[in-house]
Amino acid sequence: GAPVEVDIGGLQPGEKVTVEWRGKPVWVVRRTTEQVEALKKLDPQLADPKSERKPDEITPMESCRNEWRSIKPEFLVVVGICTHLGCSPTDKFAAGAQPSLPDDWQGGFLCPCHGSTFDMAGRVFKNKPAPDNLEVPPHMYLSDTRLLIG
Ligand code: FES
Repeated sequence: GAPVEVDIGGLQPGEKVTVEWRGKPVWVVRRTTEQVEALKKLDPQLADPKSERKPDEITPMESCRNEWRSIKPEFLVVVGICTHLGCSPTDKFAAGAQPSLPDDWQGGFLCPCHGSTFDMAGRVFKNKPAPDNLEVPPHMYLSDTRLLIG
């Protein structure tokens, strides 16, 4: 498949756009400062906080093996497919958005199929059916507002 260019110039903090790349949905999320800050506190609750599992498949870019799982802390770029059985997780950015989420929920994504939860870096929480974090696709910035996926 051909690389896909995305204009992220209009994306506001807290917003997400979905683009299709190789038949898969890729999410580009512009995180708020609060969302970026919250990531630091979550490590003990996560199955693979440092993106060490299956690095070639899940987090192939060295530049994304950090607590944000991204090149720029503000922008998350992940494949929006659950690593359990391939359902599409839904956005649960807000705290207390759903009764099944913990009270101290910091925002992220919830897979409706079997309840796996992911933080705002696509990192899976412990003791969930999904074995791995969401996949980070290869990508690069062509400019401050142009992102190339693939
Ligand atoms: Fe997402 Fe099972 S497919 S939890």
